[in-house]
Amino acid sequence: MLLGVKTINNISDSLPSGRESFQKSMKNKVVIFDTTLRDGEQALMSSLSAEQKLRIARQLARLKVDVIEAGFPVSSPGDFEAVSMIAKEITGPVICGLARIVEKDIIACAKAIKFSKRPRIHTFVGTSTIHTEKKLRKTEEQIIDLVQNGVRLARKHCDDVEFSAEDAGRTGVDFLCKVVETAISCGATTVNIPDTVGYTSPEHFALIIDTLFDKVPNIDKAIISVHCHNDLGMATANSLTAVSHGARQVECTVNGIGERAGNAALEEIVMALRVRKDLFKVSTDVNTREIQRTSKLIRDLCNMPVQPNKAIVGANAFSHSSGIHQDGVLKARKTYEIMTPQSIGLKENRMNLTSRSGSHMVKSRLLNLGYDEEEIDLESFYKRFKLLADKKGAIYDDDLIALMESKTDDDLADTYALQYLNVSSGKGTIPTATVMIKADGKLFQEAACGDGAVDATTKAIDRIVGCKLKVESFHLDAITEGREAQGRVTIVAKAPEGIFTGNGTSTDIVEASALAYMNIINKITRIKKFNKKRDVLRKQKPSSV
Ligand code: KIV
Ligand code: ZN
Repeated sequence: MLLGVKTINNISDSLPSGRESFQKSMKNKVVIFDTTLRDGEQALMSSLSAEQKLRIARQLARLKVDVIEAGFPVSSPGDFEAVSMIAKEITGPVICGLARIVEKDIIACAKAIKFSKRPRIHTFVGTSTIHTEKKLRKTEEQIIDLVQNGVRLARKHCDDVEFSAEDAGRTGVDFLCKVVETAISCGATTVNIPDTVGYTSPEHFALIIDTLFDKVPNIDKAIISVHCHNDLGMATANSLTAVSHGARQVECTVNGIGERAGNAALEEIVMALRVRKDLFKVSTDVNTREIQRTSKLIRDLCNMPVQPNKAIVGANAFSHSSGIHQDGVLKARKTYEIMTPQSIGLKENRMNLTSRSGSHMVKSRLLNLGYDEEEIDLESFYKRFKLLADKKGAIYDDDLIALMESKTDDDLADTYALQYLNVSSGKGTIPTATVMIKADGKLFQEAACGDGAVDATTKAIDRIVGCKLKVESFHLDAITEGREAQGRVTIVAKAPEGIFTGNGTSTDIVEASALAYMNIINKITRIKKFNKKRDVLRKQKPSSV
């Protein structure tokens, strides 16, 4: 039963006959159960407020997930409140609350979800020996009793009941079959098979799912769900393999946040099922164009950065760096892109301009920036581009414009240089900065107060240079290690002349910020000078009419 060993052109060929009819009855739709607000949230350093959870739930509804697991009502009054608020307001998805398989939890959960148009109680108990013996100190018979009583009680309060056999991935399969059969016979409408500690592999998990389908007589009376953790980096692979073997609900979180190494990432599951529909032959109702927006919301509200190379939603997931790849994508996007950036809600892909970029790519960017073919002397421009790229690393659009507009090295020289910076800030003091800048051989000094040391510094710079920028993003990276680490600040700012990116490096974060800001000011000043020169030239040219 190994995926990859059997034919992978038609996965359902490999399924036992009972399962095929089960799959057909599910119309080959996979239910997307989002547990960002429960399993994801419980792993955060500080918990979300009810208001923040509501914002996330609204976005999950826009994303069109089928089920939102809104929280664990008995765990705290705050969580109870958040689940009730979500149940009252959010329509569309099923609103689910978690409960251990004990009366107190199930009653609290029932109360919290009761105002939802589509409520679900999700109750669970540990079933592996390590959980039953060491954590719960119960025999298998006692666990079966708990399942019977708990599921029946939940069904008294709600028609939609999900049961989870916690740590199913390490549960003896015969006992697991018995637990699943009991839960279904007592009224569970969905039975979840969690790989709680991310221990299984795709082959192992497939075997568990196959055994359940083969041995549990009433399995066709419930939806089989999976819930995989990512401890060995296999959460997505395990979940998808389970789908290939008959599971029709996948539990997942946005950006894969969750306990330890996290849960299966929603965006990976949904996009894999969409991009490889030829393989999986199932679909979801998720509006994939909302993926990027949802990912950013979770990143910001949960204060959990997304690694740049994260599949689907990482900053580099749709960016191309090598010259060969950029050239390929320019000729035919599909050479190096298996899905469009638009399909997840991004405007376009990104081509990083570095010394590895080819002349074809550089020319294409210049044309995009509005230059005409005739204006571009590619051979000489590309040589200058390479020199600058070797010096600077990354080349932004504003650098290309400066390079295009400059005739001599002097044209590229900075107008303003930071000479002196003194900041005072701390608890109980108003952050103040004094800045001295040299321009055209003269020294200028200003002071300003601000919301913080960086804000005060940029305000003092603004006063000297007479421009005001709208900072769109501020990013700080430690580029060396230890206490004396060098920090690199990257600022993206908007000005009437366009969008500019500036970098600054220093062991002092405020100084690095000031340098990044000055980098932008110098770029704008350069562009203003170029524009002025062009206007003068235009005025000098005799009119053609
Ligand atoms: O990982 C797990 O087993 C869980 C259950 C509560 C479903 O989160
Ligand atoms: Zn979990």
